[in-house]
Amino acid sequence: MPSILQTFLAIGTFSVAYAAVIVPGATWTDTSGNVIQAHGGGFLKSGSTYYWHGEDKVHNSGLFRAVSCYSSSDLVTWTRQNDALTPISGTSISTSNIVERPKVVFNQANSEYVMWFHSDSSNYGAAQVGVATAKAPCGPYTYRSSFQPLGAQSRDMGLFQDDDATQTTYLLYASDNNQNFKISKLDANYYNVVSQTSVISASTLESPGIIKRSGIYYLFASHTTGWDPNPNKFFTASALTGPWSAQADIAPPVTRTYFSQNTFDILVNNNFGIYMGDRWRPSLLGSSRYMWFPLTWSSGKPQIVQADLWSLNLAAGTYSVASGVTYEAESGTISGSATTLSDGSFSGGRAIGYLGNGGSITINNVQGTGAAQWVALYYANGDSTWRNTTVSVNGGSQVLVDQPNTGGGHVILSVPVKLTLRSGANSLTFGSGQSNYAADLDRIIVYTAT
Ligand SMILES: *[C@@H]1O[C@H](CO)[C@@H](O)[C@H](O)[C@H]1NC(C)=O
Repeated sequence: MPSILQTFLAIGTFSVAYAAVIVPGATWTDTSGNVIQAHGGGFLKSGSTYYWHGEDKVHNSGLFRAVSCYSSSDLVTWTRQNDALTPISGTSISTSNIVERPKVVFNQANSEYVMWFHSDSSNYGAAQVGVATAKAPCGPYTYRSSFQPLGAQSRDMGLFQDDDATQTTYLLYASDNNQNFKISKLDANYYNVVSQTSVISASTLESPGIIKRSGIYYLFASHTTGWDPNPNKFFTASALTGPWSAQADIAPPVTRTYFSQNTFDILVNNNFGIYMGDRWRPSLLGSSRYMWFPLTWSSGKPQIVQADLWSLNLAAGTYSVASGVTYEAESGTISGSATTLSDGSFSGGRAIGYLGNGGSITINNVQGTGAAQWVALYYANGDSTWRNTTVSVNGGSQVLVDQPNTGGGHVILSVPVKLTLRSGANSLTFGSGQSNYAADLDRIIVYTAT
């Protein structure tokens, strides 16, 4: 017989269950239920608390609105705090300027938090870094200045704080019209850049992050394709001065890093780290999604672990990728103009195409638990556009799911959607009631983890 205390604990467990899994590409909400606005983010650990600083793009504009600040004890459940940095008219961080990729480090000697960010004019012509300081992780930060480090351009940037006695910190940045990638050392206060440590010439790198593991430095970065994704790379060196290895992939290149761009990378322990990326949506910037994946090392090579749902146990130092039940689209019932496509890249060699615009597919006998469940749609767009598909469960109302551009060909990506399935058998219909074409549907995976 449950005591009142047990009942209370059960409710308590239920109330935090929503945050147990990381769902790359889903709408990620904070503890108030609002969509997390922290794009191009940076992460800082202070005591046992993590802080996430990022760009608030709720206004769907590239112009500066705020550097937001969220806190968490588990990297999954995030509470929004006060904004860390807000616009100041008449300066380089006004509402008509660009403030991107904020990164914060703690200066132990000064007991001060120092934020660096890409500081620019609206046409990216100024190509500067900005610096701001605060006495608390979320600030509010006091803006110091914006400048070109060592007199050269700086656009996409990151920071790396080394583990030496004085925690020497470095600026990582795309310089010289994004042609040369540079690493430069900061002064003891972290207010300025004092000397150039490394240059990777003609490398056209953006969105950098560094992890140090067993004495090796791993640099992660994308190439320069604007808001579009590309195959992100890693480079290794045994010192920040280099020499840096040739680039290598962190994910199958056709997936273009699962349609994401690196923003930050952390090492949890020697077994794994976390790749934190942005899935940019330039036409609706505030709907850009976060793409976080485990990062594992195999023969010294860091690789993303593809996962639709995964969980993190920081206390135990482990992660777990959820498994689900797969249903092939071709096992369903075709309606209208929908048709079966054959290609070796599809699971089982087949997918269903010509969905939407009069075609639909119903997958029957999908086993549900009677609760809201994550379902991953594995799809391909034959052309280089974003598409979307309707989904309805048991003939109920239609939910619209965005299907980011897979880059043409038969490249398969997945997108998550949360659907309420009844306990037992369900019928899921894709592509009905929409006048535009949906992507080709390869399969779905139904998860029970929440
Ligand atoms: C769905 O995709 C079509 C392109 O296929 C696009 O025109 C339309 O705006 C999208 N709908 C929404 C709500 O995003």
